[in-house]
Amino acid sequence: MTKQVYVGMSADIIHPGHLNIINVAQKLGDVIIGLLTDEAIASYKRLPFMTFEQRKLIIENLRGVSKVVPQNTLDYVPNLRMLKPDFVVHGDDWKTGVQAETRQRVIDALKEWGGELVEPAYTAGVSSTQLIQAKRQFGTTPEIRRSLFRRQLEAKTIVRVIESHNGLTGLIAENASVEVGNSTREFDALWISSLTDSTSKGKPDTGLVDLTSRLQTVEEILEITTKPIIFDGDNGGETEHFAHMVRSLERLGLSAVVIEDKTGLKRNSLFGTDVDQTQDSIEAFCDKIRRGKQAQITNDFSIIARIESLILDKGVEDALQRAKAYTGAGADAILIHSKDKDTSQLFKFCQTYNTYENHAPLVLVPSAYPQMTEDEIYKMGGRVVIYANQLLRSAYPSMVKTAELILQNGRALEAEEMCMPIKQIINLIPGEK
Ligand code: SPV
Ligand code: MG
Repeated sequence: MTKQVYVGMSADIIHPGHLNIINVAQKLGDVIIGLLTDEAIASYKRLPFMTFEQRKLIIENLRGVSKVVPQNTLDYVPNLRMLKPDFVVHGDDWKTGVQAETRQRVIDALKEWGGELVEPAYTAGVSSTQLIQAKRQFGTTPEIRRSLFRRQLEAKTIVRVIESHNGLTGLIAENASVEVGNSTREFDALWISSLTDSTSKGKPDTGLVDLTSRLQTVEEILEITTKPIIFDGDNGGETEHFAHMVRSLERLGLSAVVIEDKTGLKRNSLFGTDVDQTQDSIEAFCDKIRRGKQAQITNDFSIIARIESLILDKGVEDALQRAKAYTGAGADAILIHSKDKDTSQLFKFCQTYNTYENHAPLVLVPSAYPQMTEDEIYKMGGRVVIYANQLLRSAYPSMVKTAELILQNGRALEAEEMCMPIKQIINLIPGEK
């Protein structure tokens, strides 16, 4: 009987290394590719460029591949136990580093039925990481970017979003990356905050910075990033205007807009009841959501309804009633906002909300309760976390301090240690060299 050979891969961008592995595998028997699903890949790094279906189509058409099966986890063992292949083929680059443990599990599993691990030398000179760098440089398109947020929602346990209010913060959101355990942690998406966009222009967060100006900020960020973008649409304006806003955002390739259920002169929510803020009626806000959904052209765009009941001390019951109504009107997700460090009301809301059948994904903004971890947010039912203003809030004190040090000393030397080297900042900007 022909031997069975299992090869696990993500295969986002095919390069000669992949073909080499398939070639080696083919000499041993029938090649089954265990193609990592978006979920499996998202568990340790950013989503692949192409969807599972696109990757599958390419791989099944490569010479030497007999069959493609999904591999739902980074761990090979579930698929190996199911298929009991005679061989597993993998480049020898996984002997050390983050994949060493996965490799050991493969060796142990193969022993159960006498299978063998074959490890051809890793093809030097080209790596997925290099290709990902190249991909970053050629950017993205509105269609690809727009669809990413929904793909992330499906593939990831929690979608991590950070604010960005200009090109520079866009680059930080795009490129910030840390290694934690066996995975690479990055931000998944960008939040265009009305608070930080207007504050960085020296203007109040009252809707004074109009949509045209907000979209200029967006353009600046679109130009140098590839990640999906969620737009803070304040209250969406007049219902007629909101439909227009949806079209503009969707056309630019943004993935979602958040609108809050308030009327009248816009005030920042974190003022709470210290200022006059009025909540919209459920009927009027539902109508706005519906009109926005009707205006949408693609299925990729999302309208996220933001509930201000806890901000305005209207209580958990009111918030829950609104959540039901807004989802019924077509909201794709619910953002429940809170101005309190004490999260007991928020917790109560989430507890009940999670029991609703087919509830829309929940978005949380831990500005007032930064002590809460992403794990805790996930346990509460949060599927999206937005770090709404931290980049601006951390930059400002440092700039004030630098200005004061220069004034105090009549020279810049003392401020130098607050500053990053010029070389480093130059290298941050693509196309500078
Ligand atoms: C923003 O970032 O502009 C928001 C969140 O809308 S908050 O400032 O908390 O209202
Ligand atoms: Mg705002």
